[in-house]
Amino acid sequence: MEKIVLCLTGASGTVYGIKLLEELTKEHFVYLIVSNSGFKVMEKELGLSKHSFINSLPDNCRLFYEDQIDVPVSSGSQITKTKGVIVAPCSVGTLGAVANGISSNLIHRVCDVALKEGKKLFLLVREMPLSLTHIRNMEKVFLAGGTVAVASPAFYTKPETVDDMVNFVAGKVLDHFGIEHSLYKRWEG
Ligand SMILES: Cc1cc2nc3c(=O)[nH]c(=O)nc-3n(C[C@H](O)[C@H](O)[C@H](O)COP(=O)(O)O)c2cc1C
Repeated sequence: MEKIVLCLTGASGTVYGIKLLEELTKEHFVYLIVSNSGFKVMEKELGLSKHSFINSLPDNCRLFYEDQIDVPVSSGSQITKTKGVIVAPCSVGTLGAVANGISSNLIHRVCDVALKEGKKLFLLVREMPLSLTHIRNMEKVFLAGGTVAVASPAFYTKPETVDDMVNFVAGKVLDHFGIEHSLYKRWEG
């Protein structure tokens, strides 16, 4: 089973991370890292406690916390064996840390490693509006080889539910990694 790293931070949009986790664990082993703020926002947005979330995780997923900086996945030798790193949702705080190489927690570290090892890195940022600092940090990550997207559902797909909108955004992330899914219907003209 191929491996991939998925990180959830404290930006709004825990649903994106959970949708990606559901999809990725169909065919991948997922190294999952949730920041402390990620757990707080999860509880606020979804009413899902840390305990319930942990108990719901499938076997082909290994959870780490942000302070577990000494685990194997924080090293280049492990990240190079994965398809890459996804941060969804990504806070502008984590964006700033990644853009400036500040590896002060495990999420920042795996992103830094992905960039230095030339692996795919996808940051699904959620903030509105964006400051010049955010935009400059996005540019830095882009120039370093990462991909930055602001979670932006489309409307030409005629979404009827929040789930439809989440599926579109999550599907776009999976497309970037070449991972098959049927989350949204592709535009056929
Ligand atoms: C309910 C709630 C919603 C938040 N939404 C956002 C958001 O959309 N984007 C963002 O960058 N930060 C958001 N924050 C703030 C982050 O959680 C905070 O900056 C945190 O320090 C980010 O840390 P992390 O990147 O390590 O998870 C939110 C916080 C709360 C409590």
